[in-house]
Amino acid sequence: MAEFIPVGSFDIVIFGGTGDLAQRKLLPALYHRWADGQIPEDCRIVGISRSEMDDKGFRAFAFEACEEATPDALNKSEWKKFEKHLHYVAMDATQSDADWSALKQHLKLSDDRPLVFYLAVTPKIYVPICEALGAAGLNTPSARVVLEKPIGTDLASAHAINAGVGAVFKEECIYRIDHYLGKETVQNLMVLRFANSLFEPLWNRTAIDHIQITVAEHYGVGDRAGYYDGSGALRDMVQNHLLQLLCLIAMEPPNSINGDAIRTEKIKVLEALRPITAERAKRNTVRAQYKAGAVKGEPVPGYLEELGQDSSTETFVAIKAAIDNWRWARVPFYLRTGKRMKDRHSEIVVQFRETPHSMFGDAGTQSNRLVINVQPDEGVRLYLQIKEPGPGGLRIKSLPLNLAYADNFLVRYPDAYERLLMDVVRGNLSLFMRREEVEAAWKWVDGLLEAWEQAEVPMESYQAGLEDGPVEARLMLRRDERDWWEA
Ligand code: BG6
Repeated sequence: MAEFIPVGSFDIVIFGGTGDLAQRKLLPALYHRWADGQIPEDCRIVGISRSEMDDKGFRAFAFEACEEATPDALNKSEWKKFEKHLHYVAMDATQSDADWSALKQHLKLSDDRPLVFYLAVTPKIYVPICEALGAAGLNTPSARVVLEKPIGTDLASAHAINAGVGAVFKEECIYRIDHYLGKETVQNLMVLRFANSLFEPLWNRTAIDHIQITVAEHYGVGDRAGYYDGSGALRDMVQNHLLQLLCLIAMEPPNSINGDAIRTEKIKVLEALRPITAERAKRNTVRAQYKAGAVKGEPVPGYLEELGQDSSTETFVAIKAAIDNWRWARVPFYLRTGKRMKDRHSEIVVQFRETPHSMFGDAGTQSNRLVINVQPDEGVRLYLQIKEPGPGGLRIKSLPLNLAYADNFLVRYPDAYERLLMDVVRGNLSLFMRREEVEAAWKWVDGLLEAWEQAEVPMESYQAGLEDGPVEARLMLRRDERDWWEA
């Protein structure tokens, strides 16, 4: 049985306390950890935003949020105990002369009690908020600030945010969240690679033919169209989530799981990513938008219809990436992500090379393959070649050794934010991005955006809910005599 180890007492202040992220993720995550007995009784959770609201209103808002995010109805008497931790302060925290006295009344300021400032607001106001916190003397020795992605929209803006926040908080007090790093299966990538001696001798160009990383979503942009149109699949998903997955798959073994060891190895991978020039962008990338289609038999509009205007923002991207180092020379990494794909599935496929000689003729041999299901149906499958029993000649089938989480672990999968929030309180930075990581990822993405423009890479299309991206993404792999893997 999983055991929850209580964290020490802390206070958390959520800027954007009535926003989408607080509603969908942060408040439910804190509730679950409290219900599991991990959050001590004297902790305070303070929501801040400009809307006028009192504690009572905020508690009602949080109740609805937690109920929405919880499959079973919330236990009302338990909730009454939890809601006592919730408080609300209405203020404009971007003003340098903001009055922090109402907030300070809720906090127990001390040098060793963690004080978490979670910025669940637009990145444009990260720096003004931090400056105001600094001016109010709230950057205490035990204070830490959590920055949501996206950190900027390009290298220059990310640099400005990092410099501005860094002028108030030391790097070791800055927690840059990529919630993919809090997913159970993503953490398992490290365990799979570095707690099993089986893989490491094979984990390189000699045994691996190529690697595929897919993050497919079946929902569209919905009411986030305003934000999404200024971003697109490359900035919204590749710059952070997909590149983080790629780093964990490709990095060298870190010396330890603590401190900076993992982050240092990830940075090396990002720095080794081959820049995508205009010439390479034409052959090695595909961008596309979804057109009207259907999800579960129901018609759904195309991206432009949802947006209500013309746009050149991609909702799908596929990239053939290369890592220029000794381990990964000539091993392509195919990345793809899109909204309104056939279904929601995120997986990593490690395709091993063919046997050097096939003594079985045309009996149907394939190569070994390791499939890591990030979500849903979390698990790991290792495909091996097996002789099909029975008469009728030698037939070889590719079948998986199937390690499905659901069959092996009877636990509730905690949402990624639960683990990450508790790590902030514990002061564990290993699952958060360091400044250089964010900037190296932006550098590569900026180069690709520039290449798209220079090479005038066309905007392809795919039918919403009916296709796994455009045909051009399949052709990109066909040119290399490969295919996207389908279960
Ligand atoms: C967010 C993106 O970071 O991740 C969203 O902004 C995306 O566009 C979401 O839908 C996907 O997260 P998950 O955990 O549902 O795979």
